[in-house]
Amino acid sequence: MPPLPHDQNHLIYDLSYETRFGTGLQQFTQMSMNTIASILANGKVIDIGCGTGRLAIPLAQNNYQVVGVDLNAGMLSALNAKAQRLNLSIPTFTDINQLEAQHCDLALTVFTVLSYILDEDGLLELFQNINRHLKPGASFLFDLASPEAFSQRNRTYNGNGLTGVVNVEFINPGGPIANYSEEVVVNRPDEFPNIHTVTEFFQIRCWTLNEITSLLAKSGFGFTRHIPGYARMGAEYYVCKKEI
Ligand SMILES: C[S@@+](CC[C@H](N)C(=O)[O-])C[C@H]1O[C@@H](n2cnc3c(N)ncnc32)[C@H](O)[C@@H]1O
Repeated sequence: MPPLPHDQNHLIYDLSYETRFGTGLQQFTQMSMNTIASILANGKVIDIGCGTGRLAIPLAQNNYQVVGVDLNAGMLSALNAKAQRLNLSIPTFTDINQLEAQHCDLALTVFTVLSYILDEDGLLELFQNINRHLKPGASFLFDLASPEAFSQRNRTYNGNGLTGVVNVEFINPGGPIANYSEEVVVNRPDEFPNIHTVTEFFQIRCWTLNEITSLLAKSGFGFTRHIPGYARMGAEYYVCKKEI
């Protein structure tokens, strides 16, 4: 099987994101938590592409019932270790297709998760699965990153014993698919004595809102509402509801 995104960097993922985005990451997480609270005060949330639990952990700490799904088992191991340390119960799964219906009040795919899916059939299948895991009338919150926002991620970052270089290059100018690469030199001998350089490469796709709403309609979702305030974070946030 070809490597999955984050197969190489899951051990240093949190540290590299904290270094790269600085205090903005905390603010962004708090803003996302506020958005979620405005959609659902309490209940069951399925966090798809949950990664290392940036949202799954604070959601569980705020008494939401959380189910985490991520293709990458390494990312889930990092989440599971945090949940165990904090005595939180967050069941996690790698394969949304095999997961029995979860009857959730809210589904999330946030922080560029949809960009990891490169073809329409794959995205349609994901939306149909999300629909299957939601109660009728339940909400689905997602974000879309623009090509400009991805291009702005080209940069070097330094700190916490890491030096990272991110490069995002669109295959065709004006096209939707880009090669994403990141190389991180790690100098944290006490914590990671065997990790010196971590190199990630995968492709991402910038979906348009039209493409997304058309696939959502085919998957049993209704009207999509824009959530203002996220543009400065390099993404637009939207919420829609499963049809009743
Ligand atoms: C940039 S991380 C975002 C993590 C988390 N949502 C957050 O807000 O911090 C994207 C995650 O989506 C996961 N992912 C990508 N495609 C996926 C899919 N089809 N199903 C489940 N997880 C997926 C990746 O493995 C990765 O952990």
